[in-house]
Amino acid sequence: MNKIKISNHVSVYQNGMNCVIIEKNGTVCLINCNPQIMPNLNLNIKQIICLNYRSSINGGIIKFSGSNVQIAAPEQQLELFENPMQRLGDEKYRLHVYDFHPDNDLISDSVKISTALFDGAILDFEDIKIEFFEVRGDTDGELGCIIHDGVKIGVCADIICGDGKIPFLYRLCKDSGNFDDYHAYLACKDDLLDSLRKFDDCDVLLPARDNIINAPRSTIEALAVRLNALYENYAAASALNYYTPGYLKPSAPMIPAKTAVTPANIKYLFCNFIIISENKRGFLIDCGTQHGFDMIAELFKSGELEAIDICYITHYHHDHVDMLDKLRDLYHCKIYAPQSFADMLVNPEAYYMTCLSHVSVSPEVLPDNYNFTWEGCNFTHFEFPGQTLYHGGLLFDDGSARFLFCGDSFAPTGFDDYCPQNRNFTGRNRGFHKCLDIIENLKPDFIINQHQEQAFVYTQNEIDFLRDNLDEREKLMRDLTVWESPDYSLDPYWLKMYPYVSRVRQGEPCVKELQFTNHTDKPAQITVKFNASPGIIVPEYIDISVPVTFSTAQVKPGTSSISAEIWLNGVYFSEICRGVIFVN
Ligand SMILES: [Fe+2]
Repeated sequence: MNKIKISNHVSVYQNGMNCVIIEKNGTVCLINCNPQIMPNLNLNIKQIICLNYRSSINGGIIKFSGSNVQIAAPEQQLELFENPMQRLGDEKYRLHVYDFHPDNDLISDSVKISTALFDGAILDFEDIKIEFFEVRGDTDGELGCIIHDGVKIGVCADIICGDGKIPFLYRLCKDSGNFDDYHAYLACKDDLLDSLRKFDDCDVLLPARDNIINAPRSTIEALAVRLNALYENYAAASALNYYTPGYLKPSAPMIPAKTAVTPANIKYLFCNFIIISENKRGFLIDCGTQHGFDMIAELFKSGELEAIDICYITHYHHDHVDMLDKLRDLYHCKIYAPQSFADMLVNPEAYYMTCLSHVSVSPEVLPDNYNFTWEGCNFTHFEFPGQTLYHGGLLFDDGSARFLFCGDSFAPTGFDDYCPQNRNFTGRNRGFHKCLDIIENLKPDFIINQHQEQAFVYTQNEIDFLRDNLDEREKLMRDLTVWESPDYSLDPYWLKMYPYVSRVRQGEPCVKELQFTNHTDKPAQITVKFNASPGIIVPEYIDISVPVTFSTAQVKPGTSSISAEIWLNGVYFSEICRGVIFVN
């Protein structure tokens, strides 16, 4: 056992993560009991303390469930320990989701909690005092603690790493005030830093992973400098400065691009646009809101519109697709969608993404760079991984001007990148850089965003500003995050199960694919260990092999989960990948 002594009674067991062990009078208390902890450590474990609900940090508690071990957990999260399957099974946490706290990093079976912990609580373990306090910013209701064992030993969850870095940036998409989580990337960074500063006076800080922090104050300050620099960069080029001026507070924001009124044949329909030809035929771009749908009916009523031929979908978000089934049934138009998310329109519950719709439709799939004509006008469709990875861009040329429908990706003030759960990646030739490549090559006269009544114009000045911003951001993120690529910190879904939700009869095999995004340009080796709810039979340690079949022969009907612990090139990420099975 790789055990590092911290004080008389406290040590850290390093098993890919850090499990804190307090040993006194022949009994043991564990903190951060990660999935790699085995019950046969030859320790007389009496108490386990969970600082948050996350299985990636506390998944090991399942192995002690039903024993005499007392488990303590945050008061605000008790339901997530005692009834995790109810949350995983409820579609309101999978569809139309704008809030990600808590997320699906849940333990795979119910665990009884014997002690509820809270801000200000003190737990006495064999006369060793453990003080608890609220930690804000990463996980709602999370706690940190200080163990008093001659020296002051801070213990935290996954909120800081060894030399002032951060493991999971995407979790900082969280608002503590009026906004939803979706629009709030980095909004909680001051909450996080203020919470971390409660460890300033500790002699040592034990994070859930990476190196032990021997100089907490300076390490936390190093993290603050890096996080504030990233915030400045992000806030300088954000669409939020257009939609909600004043929410972000950049010191040097982008000068807004010029805007222009769209011509009469391109009409704004609130999250949709419609192009109307001289023959009164319609080409719709997106159809996601009742309001927009009603506006289409008004156009028919007024005689401006006599038919809809095509609806092109820019991306899978519910505010762009929720009315597609009604549109198809009422107006019998074709639905066009990019390859990247066509399957999401057919099988939304196969995915765990933000803003998924409940509506399922089968679109005609457009390949990348596809040209077509309608009513004498030329169109070109591109894969356009801007606001989300699953996104298209459409160039419309009516002979008088060229318009690029960019979906939700850009604004006069910069990027729509305030939600990492949409999967925006760093680096050239992907993500927003790829979108800027397309804009730079096409040089459209106007860019149109689905949520903006006016078009806008990007000149080379705007493109250069945005490229420089992205290049600087990549460097800042490399400095701030711990993995081989910063995208492993930004992307919650670099390893995912497909389908996310499976529906099988009891006894039927359940097949799920593991889908992996390598965020480096080097070969990568993935090792996986599956864990699951009771009754689901999983393969043992494997080098990746897809698809993977799980047996449901012994599971009770209801909701079950399967999770995967991941090692990337030998580095342990913990249990960051999860899928759901409904057994009937
Ligand atoms: Fe939208």
